[in-house]
Amino acid sequence: MNLILSNEGLIHETSYSDISFYSDQTVYEVIRVIDGVALFVEDHFLRLEISMQIQGLLIQMSYSDFKQNIAELVRLNQIMEGNVKFVYSVAKGNAHWAFRFIPHNYPIPENYQFGVTTDFLFAERQNPNAKVIQVGIRNLADQMIADRKLYEVLLVDRDGMITEGSRSNVFFVKSDVFYTAPDSMILVGITRKKVFDCLKELGYTIVEEAVSAKEVDDFDAVFLTGTSPKILPVISIGKRLFNVQNPAMVRLMDVYNQMIREY
Ligand code: PDD
Repeated sequence: MNLILSNEGLIHETSYSDISFYSDQTVYEVIRVIDGVALFVEDHFLRLEISMQIQGLLIQMSYSDFKQNIAELVRLNQIMEGNVKFVYSVAKGNAHWAFRFIPHNYPIPENYQFGVTTDFLFAERQNPNAKVIQVGIRNLADQMIADRKLYEVLLVDRDGMITEGSRSNVFFVKSDVFYTAPDSMILVGITRKKVFDCLKELGYTIVEEAVSAKEVDDFDAVFLTGTSPKILPVISIGKRLFNVQNPAMVRLMDVYNQMIREY
């Protein structure tokens, strides 16, 4: 049973169509649930407010209602593991919103062990700080992922700089220094933010600079971060291969996984 909490009350999944929400005006958030606990809810709400502001809209829901609705959805659907997806849009002056449970069965354990395949997609998200679906880029990315049997594509902007994945942020590692594109160029991932905390705890250096697509050969390791993948090693970008056992990256993964288990 999958019950959805919406502005129309409690509805069953069979009578709900998420597609109806999809437009560039729809803001969304995906929140991880582990052991029945929703992670980093306040960070997600703050980002939601930023996304809304970029759209020129104000969210008609308080933080405490947002938090309570998530807890209620987790309780109603007895969620132990998975994601809660929240969508919010305004049509004809009325706010439409829904919280629903998305079970997730990816990445698979082998992805963490052997790393995932990626390649470049030359595309730029408009207003990258807003968590909105940009239908054009989404479709292009999904088509390329399916055709080439990739896990993710890395977006490269007009200056040849790697900004982020189509649904993840990306880090590059060289001699224990971690590089990632600055906030202004990307969706500021909640996972990325928590990864910064772990890196600081471990004493590693973070450089907030985008890596050029031409420079990737210089790096030892690459990984993706996101609500679903957590921290996921990349084995390849096109034909270039990377170390999925990089010691600094593996230490980071251990510290991050421990942090969310103890949350
Ligand atoms: N996407 N960049 C983009 C373009 C994203 O769509 C996402 C996440 C991220 C990572 O953000 P976070 O760590 O907060 O999940 C970066 C969500 C999860 C999705 O599309 O399902």
